[in-house]
Amino acid sequence: MAKWIDVLPANELSAGMTKLLAFEEVELLLINIAGEFFAIENRCSHDDGELNGGEICAAEITCPRHGARFNIKTGTVLSAPAFDNIKTYPVRIVDNRVQVFDQEK
Ligand code: FES
Repeated sequence: MAKWIDVLPANELSAGMTKLLAFEEVELLLINIAGEFFAIENRCSHDDGELNGGEICAAEITCPRHGARFNIKTGTVLSAPAFDNIKTYPVRIVDNRVQVFDQEK
């Protein structure tokens, strides 16, 4: 059954910061953009490179390996060499806790 999973206190990730999290069977990159939280899989759709460490500008992240860009909010691919979207996960804040929705259950 799909469920919300508590991952960390919201005040542990300031605006503009990112955090890697083990989440079920995947590695998530949690991102705070101006106080709003987003979660993407830490895996580029081009060559499975880590997105962690990529430059973040507004709601876009650039893969540090070959420079593909993705929309953090939707996972939409924005530039080559990637052509497929990345996976995103719904995030909510409940009682100052960040929760990520596990869609696989
Ligand atoms: S692995 Fe990300 S652009 Fe190649």
